[in-house]
Amino acid sequence: MHELKRTHMCGQLDAADSGARVLINGWVQRRRDLGGLIFLDIRDRTGIVQVVADGEVSRQAFKTAEALRNEFVVAVKGNVVRRKEDAVNPKLKTGEIEIAAEEIVILSKAQTPPIYIEDNNNITEALRLKYRYLDLRRPSMQKSLTLRHRVTMDVREFLDQNGFLEIETPMLTRPTPEGARDYLVPSRVNPGRFFALPQSPQLFKQLLMVSGMDKYFQIARCFRDEDLRADRQPEFTQIDIEMSFVDMDDVISLNERLMAHVFEKNLGLKLSIPFKRMTYQQAMEQYGSDKPDTRFDMKLVGIADLVANSAFKVFSDTAASGGDIRGINAKGCGKTFSRREIDRLVEYVKQFGAKGLVWMVVTEEGVKSPIAKFLTMEETDAIIKRMDGQAGDLLLIVADRPKVVYDSLGQLRLDLGRRLGLIDEHAFNFLWVTHFPLLEYDEEEGRYVAVHHPFTSPVSEDIPLLDSQPGKVRANAYDLVLNGMELGGGSIRIHDTNLQQKMFEVLGFSREKAEEKFGFLLEAFKYGTPPHGGIAFGLDRLVMVVAGRENIRDVIAFPKTQNAACLMTGAPAEADEGQLKEIHIKLDME
Ligand code: AMO
Ligand code: AMP
Repeated sequence: MHELKRTHMCGQLDAADSGARVLINGWVQRRRDLGGLIFLDIRDRTGIVQVVADGEVSRQAFKTAEALRNEFVVAVKGNVVRRKEDAVNPKLKTGEIEIAAEEIVILSKAQTPPIYIEDNNNITEALRLKYRYLDLRRPSMQKSLTLRHRVTMDVREFLDQNGFLEIETPMLTRPTPEGARDYLVPSRVNPGRFFALPQSPQLFKQLLMVSGMDKYFQIARCFRDEDLRADRQPEFTQIDIEMSFVDMDDVISLNERLMAHVFEKNLGLKLSIPFKRMTYQQAMEQYGSDKPDTRFDMKLVGIADLVANSAFKVFSDTAASGGDIRGINAKGCGKTFSRREIDRLVEYVKQFGAKGLVWMVVTEEGVKSPIAKFLTMEETDAIIKRMDGQAGDLLLIVADRPKVVYDSLGQLRLDLGRRLGLIDEHAFNFLWVTHFPLLEYDEEEGRYVAVHHPFTSPVSEDIPLLDSQPGKVRANAYDLVLNGMELGGGSIRIHDTNLQQKMFEVLGFSREKAEEKFGFLLEAFKYGTPPHGGIAFGLDRLVMVVAGRENIRDVIAFPKTQNAACLMTGAPAEADEGQLKEIHIKLDME
């Protein structure tokens, strides 16, 4: 076997190797039989190299080549020779050369694979996931996983150089407070008790600060049983960071440098830091979203003050009941959109709870709008002026509760931005969104819940509002948004036992409940807790952006489907009776 050890990787050979005797290992990508000559494309992780088996050069190589099929694994020994001028493929690094085979050995045969091993193979994702090990042979997948490795290494290098320690935290633990559903693990040794898989290492990283570890990070697996989307997996990876004796600016500035490092190393891009910042309030009012896509404008504009006394009841009633009235200006669309297209926009916003959508087409002669007759000349002019309406523009207005106005116009803005081609696909718009609300009222639960998690500190000047107007309290919390996607989020934490207890109270936890769930943290805080804060990035999401992929599954080796299942292994699967008995579980299913 030793003499079949490779000397080179396939994709690395080029004209400079001409004349060299080489041995390569790899998979047969393609075989072309031209009678006296057989051409083979041999592939490994680094790329493809052409091999030519010529009966005149080696009978053995030719005979073996005849028996080869796609995806056979081979060893090829031979000489690197230049290709004839007209056979050069300038698109390949190996395109100027080929290997004249002297000996070919089949290391492993392959059945016809159920999917073609090439990019753009139009195979359904279900099939790709079932045969993931074959799917991962495709160059684009090999590239994604290589990039993922590179990004992870760069993160480790940067954080190491900045004094961070990588510390592992348990997988079998108590429920953590991120607010999704837990994955539970029954304990055999402790009947009736369960571990939860961590939704994040949040509590442990805070405890590590109490331990004096000062600067911690972890490339951490997290588990959340929630509804999946294109950028969500039940099992995902965070770049998790926590630091002692810092304020928000320290955390932000370190992480800007971290992003700059990753983008420079992997895309050769110099990001301009510091990144822009925006408060949550601004983001909602201007973009209708806490993760604004700032690659294009079309901001939401408030006009409630202009139409508070309007004869159009929808406007005046909304204003009177403390609602909001905002609009966006779809530049030029007054000319290009048909009536039917406009009607479709009205239907579109309804799925986000809007009761309707006022549209106004600005013309040289005035406005065309279903509500034109209800508005005075002054009101119309004021709206046009505020919204920067020019002839040909289409103004789109929603009046409702603020949440509905933000949601519906925010989504409409994104939809129009995409459809009108306003988004610069090459831009990387990083944005910090700061000062999130600390709490929001949960109608279902009938109580306030933490927007981030219960350990996030309130802005100190808002602390007095905790009792009177909890919904108004701002948090020392920040998200890093990239092109409209939440890349990471974190906060400065509460490090004072009393304030932490107060927070639990506001969240409606009884003392006993708080004690039971998080008592160990409250106890720890009694023994000298440094002020601390941190952040966590979605590593999968970061790699997805750097790789220019649209789907998080394309940067994860073995991802789950929308139904949180693995099509390759068939997990989750039934457990057998004996196993269930051991962990004291009886199934009770309809
Ligand atoms: P948060 O819950 O905001 O914060 O999560 C941080 C980041 O993790 C990524 N992320 C996900 N990625 C893929 N699939 C998912 N299901 C998923 N859920 C979250 C996102 C998100 O921004 N402990 C806090 C952080 C802190 O306060 O330091 C936390 O977990 O990119
Ligand atoms: P109506 O009074 O229901 O006939 O509606 C008149 C116009 O106002 C229609 O174009 C509706 O789409 C629009 N409209 C109704 N309710 C709202 C609302 N809450 N916000 C914005 N437009 C609305």
